[in-house]
Amino acid sequence: RDGRDHDDQGLDGGGRDDDQAVGGRSHAANAILISVVAAIGGFLFGFDTAVINGAVDALAGEFELSAGLTGFAVSCALLGCVVGAWFAGSAADRFGRPRVMVAAAVLFTASAIGSGLAFGVWDLIFWRVVGGLGVGVASVIAPAYIAEIAPAAIRGRLGSLQQLAIVTGIFLALLSDAFLAGQAGGASEDLWLGLAAWRWMFIAGIVPAVLYGVLALTIPESPRFLVARGEDTRARDVLLRLMSGRAARERITAIKKSMEGEHLVGLANLKGPRLGLRPIVWVGILLSLFQQLVGINVIFYYSTTLWRSVGFEESDALTITVITSVTNVVVTVIAILLVDRVGRRPLLLTGSAMMTLSLGAMALSFTQSTGSGDDVSLGAPWSTIALVAANVFVVGFGVSWGPVVWVLLGEMFPNALRAPALAVAAAAQWVANFAVSTTFPWMSQNLGLSVTYGGYAVFALLSGLFVLTQVQETKGRELEDMTGATGRDRGADRQPATTG
Ligand code: GLC
Repeated sequence: RDGRDHDDQGLDGGGRDDDQAVGGRSHAANAILISVVAAIGGFLFGFDTAVINGAVDALAGEFELSAGLTGFAVSCALLGCVVGAWFAGSAADRFGRPRVMVAAAVLFTASAIGSGLAFGVWDLIFWRVVGGLGVGVASVIAPAYIAEIAPAAIRGRLGSLQQLAIVTGIFLALLSDAFLAGQAGGASEDLWLGLAAWRWMFIAGIVPAVLYGVLALTIPESPRFLVARGEDTRARDVLLRLMSGRAARERITAIKKSMEGEHLVGLANLKGPRLGLRPIVWVGILLSLFQQLVGINVIFYYSTTLWRSVGFEESDALTITVITSVTNVVVTVIAILLVDRVGRRPLLLTGSAMMTLSLGAMALSFTQSTGSGDDVSLGAPWSTIALVAANVFVVGFGVSWGPVVWVLLGEMFPNALRAPALAVAAAAQWVANFAVSTTFPWMSQNLGLSVTYGGYAVFALLSGLFVLTQVQETKGRELEDMTGATGRDRGADRQPATTG
């Protein structure tokens, strides 16, 4: 032995001499490239959910929509997301990870064309739901796949690329909406080929969608999926792009061991003693629910209302929305730098604390508001306090629960459960997203903003207690060491699963 085979932990420091993969690029570079392609799914996730913002008023005008139908045209995509996420798990275990990405790309492309050319509101709703299916699929497949190809030492960073892509997608959708509306002199005005600007906002989504589909054809199948199917030689070839020969052999043995007695049988694998599901599946579902119940998307979907209430004009409110989404991109980069160093739990706990305090401050500020409904307003100093608090909230979420939940959902489940468990957790997340965003207008009108934000603050507090008691640290651990233990099994971290 010449010592070349010793670089097991791979990338972040280990022996230089074995850092070159077949084809000349380093192992780390391969892992990053492959993860970036998978994360384009996240970009489309962000783009598709945000693109409607700039189009909504124009299309409500063109199709003469009631307030109720306008709301539904916005939120219907989330229902598609629930269904897409739910089926993505079984599809990923059946057809493999990259093929499912290609399917999502087809859904995104069809939705971009269909929504852009919609001739009536139900037509538009149909195509938005189709896009939602794609978003749901992407929300499952990217975290699972990235975790499965990432070396343990940098898995958190690569997994966070998904959230970076989501928030970049949100930002670019807002920017592209603003640009197209600007070119036409208004979202309802004709732009090119006799089509109004709002239609081009959707059509613009074709570019990333096609790129995603084409690039997804070039990335390798997940080695965990291949081993589960008994295709060890192919799995080894993929692993050799990511680690040394010896490390690859050890990995295959470990993956096999972790799959002993298990099969990729979809949802049936999730059955367990606690309310019908394995405890670790509940942890995934609750992480998802808390991520949404703190109300983050209320800030993104209804931001104009919020910024107006603290004293901004309608036009400034749009600028602030853009600033908020840039902030979100920047803080995600901070999370990427931290997640593999400090670990997942400390980030989540810090985020919960920041969100509890900032949402509490917002709730307190709005006890001082005047007016009601859409015309709530705050005087000094409460308007400043609310404004600062809202931004602290976005920062607190962006460095913690935003990226870390997606990282954890990708990595925390044992190999045989990953795809279906992630699918169920992500579906729960979309249901919660739908529930929070559709109830916000009603809650703010009838209960007031103070009670509404106070409610989100309570969930932020509970989210911290949940992490403290139920969530295990996964930093640096191999996927094969994920036994399905939860916080209750503390101290039993590396023991075999206690679940059944
Ligand atoms: C996370 C959430 C998503 C939210 C985004 C905002 O990805 O899952 O619902 O829109 O963060 O940063």
